[in-house]
Order: sequence, then C-alpha cells, then structure tokens
Amino acid sequence: MDIFRIEGPAELSGSVTINGSKNASLPIMAAAILAAGKSILSSVPRLSDISLFGRLLKRLGCKISKNANGDLCIDSTTIDNPVGEYEIVRRMRASICILGPLLARCGRVEVSMPGGCAIGDRPVDIHLRGLRELGAKIHLKNGYIVAEAPNGLTGKDIFLGGPFGSTVLGTANVLMAATLAKGKTVIESAACEPEMADLANCLNRMGAKIKGIGSPRLIVEGVRQLHPAEWKVIPDRIEAGTFMVAAAITAGQLRLHNCRLDDMMAVVDKLRNIGVTVEAEEDGCVVARSGSIKPADIATQPYPGFPTDLQAQFMALLSLGEGNSVIIEKVFPDRFMHVAELNRMAANLRKEGPAVIIAGVKKLIAASVMASDLRASAALVLAGLAAEGTTTISRVYHIDRGYERIEERLNPVGAKISRESI
Ligand code: EPZ
Repeated sequence: MDIFRIEGPAELSGSVTINGSKNASLPIMAAAILAAGKSILSSVPRLSDISLFGRLLKRLGCKISKNANGDLCIDSTTIDNPVGEYEIVRRMRASICILGPLLARCGRVEVSMPGGCAIGDRPVDIHLRGLRELGAKIHLKNGYIVAEAPNGLTGKDIFLGGPFGSTVLGTANVLMAATLAKGKTVIESAACEPEMADLANCLNRMGAKIKGIGSPRLIVEGVRQLHPAEWKVIPDRIEAGTFMVAAAITAGQLRLHNCRLDDMMAVVDKLRNIGVTVEAEEDGCVVARSGSIKPADIATQPYPGFPTDLQAQFMALLSLGEGNSVIIEKVFPDRFMHVAELNRMAANLRKEGPAVIIAGVKKLIAASVMASDLRASAALVLAGLAAEGTTTISRVYHIDRGYERIEERLNPVGAKISRESI
C-alpha cells in the first residue's frame, strides 16, 4: 500500500508530455474483440486499469503482448470463454464495455454486473436497453448479465439518452455491437466525447461504416466482418487538464506537449475566467498563473460541456479563489468524496445536494488525507502541491489507475513528492 508525502507549497515550472488517453484506450482495447487477429495499439498509457483490462481480455482467450516499440498487441484470433468475471469487473467498471463486442462476435456473453462505486450510482440500464433494441435477449443470472443473439443482431433506430444525458460506455457498447449487426443502426443522443470519436474512427479503420462521428447522432451500416488494425490513441485530455490545474494552483508555468486544446475548450475557457493564461502552441500549450485566482461557477455536463472528471481538481483550485464559487455536479450528483478531505486541509467547502459552495481561503494547510477514487485523489495531490507543510495521501493506488507515475512527472518540474510503501 503506497502513500505519497508532498512538501508544499511548490511552484511548478518546466515541460510535461501528456500520455495517451485511458478512457479512449479501454473501449478501443475492447474493440479488438470484434475482429479475429492481431490489433496493434500505440500510445496506450501504462496504468493499472490498462493492465487489468489486458487480464480481462486474456481470460476471454486473447493473447496480450508488447512489440519492440512498446505498442500493445491484442491477438483475438481465439475467444473461447466469453465471460467477464466478477473478480475483474468489481475492480474496474469499464470492463462492462466488452459486453457489446463479445455479443456481436460470439452471439452469447456473460458479464458480471458492475457493483457499487465511490463516485455514486452507476447503473447500466441504458447499455442493456440499447442492446435489446438490436435484438439481444438479456437476463440476469447470479449477478451476471447474460446476453444472447444466436442469429446475430439487427440494426435499429435507438434513442440512447438517459437522466443525465448521454452515456459514454453505453454508447461504446451499442456502437461496437451495431458494427456487425444486419442493416442500419441510428444511435440518437450518442456520447460525443473525444474518446468516443477515437473509438469510432478506430472502428472505421477496422472496416466499419460509421458516420456522424463526434455528433450526438451516429449512423452505422452493419458489415459482415471487421479486420484487425493499427491505431494510435488520442492524448488524455483529463490528464492534460489535471496538469493545467497543477500549474495554476502553484502559480507556476508549465508547457504541455501532446495536448489537444481542441478537445478541451470548456476547460480552457474556465481556466481563463479564473485568471489563468493558456497559450496554444504547435503540439500543445503553455499554462501559467501570476495574479490571483478569481472565483467561478462550474456545472459539469457531458461533452462538450465541462467534464465531471476535472470537477475535483477545479474544486481544489477554487478553494484558493478570491471569493465564493459554486460547483454543481450534473453527471454524478454524489461525486464529492474529496470535499471532506479538502476541508481537512483548511479549505472551506459546503455541500448542498449536487452542489458545493466554495468560500475561497488564503491558504491550504497540509494534513493526512485519504484517496477515495481516481479524480478525487488527483485533487488531493494538487492541493498538497499548494498547501503549507507536508501532506500525506494514503491509498495512492487510486491515482495509479489513471496517472502513470504522477510523482515522476511532477518532481522534474518542481514538485517534492515521495512515494513510500507502508
Ligand atoms: C465514463 O464512464 C468514464 N469512464 C468516466 O471516467 C466519466 O466520468 C464518465 O464517462 C462521464 O464522462 C471511462 O470512460 C472508462 P456514463 P461511464 O455512462 O461511461 C448515468 C474516470 O475518472 N447512466 O457516461 O460509466 C450514470 O449513472 C472515469 O476516468 C445511467 O443512468 O459514464 C451517470 O450519472 C470515472 N444508466 C451518467 O449516466 C446507464 O446505463 C453518465 O455516465 C449508464 C449511465
């Protein structure tokens, strides 16, 4: 069990290169199931979630390896055990996105129903609704979703919207299944996240026929077969946003390489409102803050709105704002495990239903805090960089799920983070 010790306050300065996207890599790894043979994925980040997903695919029958360039190779020639086991699914909800591709490839699949999650209620009813629309027979057996379509799936017009708008992995599951369905599928209220566009573009590289990529209406002409492909995943906009806040909260300056500002317009707009400068460059940007942190109001939304996966990080930043800010969480209304931990660091945050009222304070004070989920723990690292004294963060494994050795990326630009095993 690793912990972090963070000496603060730090002032970051230097360059960081952004890794490939975790949330693009996971569904694209699942897409390899659709085409028998070896798919080669580059820029896949080295994260515990990626290794766990690799183990999930291995259990299905896939062979997972790395080539000389360090690219991830997924050989899905043999899929002889179409079962997503509880042991893995309970540790990583994203496992659910093997459901659609396995159903399309094998005609029958069993995937453990995902359990509870620290960020709130996360049902998969819309995933199942979409697959049923394509003709799948689905029932629950001993905690497992059993989906069957022995004669294949059939294209249909499907509305995939839910109580909080679109669903990212729900779109991934239905989209992947529709690529091998008979006839045309129209997915209305599809998720428009850049990670979904990356998945759809990769599927087209594999021989699928998808139009409307990046829009809420995806049109899929089913094909008889797909073939393996080589694909480079997009940069991780959530990792980039986290490093942008790192520069802002420490009144520092960071140059980010391999960062696509085009995928981050809501984030950049908010940073500029807060008084942070973001200068675009050839392959990224320069982010800096010299003046005060201005208060701001944020409401999270599906893309292209403000991403829920940066809500906690911006809360840490605005906790040092000159005035009051309000954050409303409209995607995961209970996603506030970081609030109590930040208050332990002398922030002044008050939760009111799906909102948090932030009364800006002059400084944060170091404390021992506990990571609870991936993005909440990133916010604690950022707060530790700005706080006076030594912050200790336990359960660092949450951070390793989505950030590759974050201390080895931040220390060269001025942070003082040590990782210790206890
Ligand atoms: C993806 O999760 C991301 N995970 C999450 O990132 C991200 O927070 C989320 O999208 C929203 O952007 C991956 O890509 C691996 P949703 P997903 O289905 O697809 C409700 C991170 O930190 N809903 O878009 O599971 C749901 O409860 C992770 O990297 C239903 O009601 O999220 C939520 O309120 C955390 N029924 C909303 O929709 C359903 O069947 C959006 O969830 C599906 C979803």
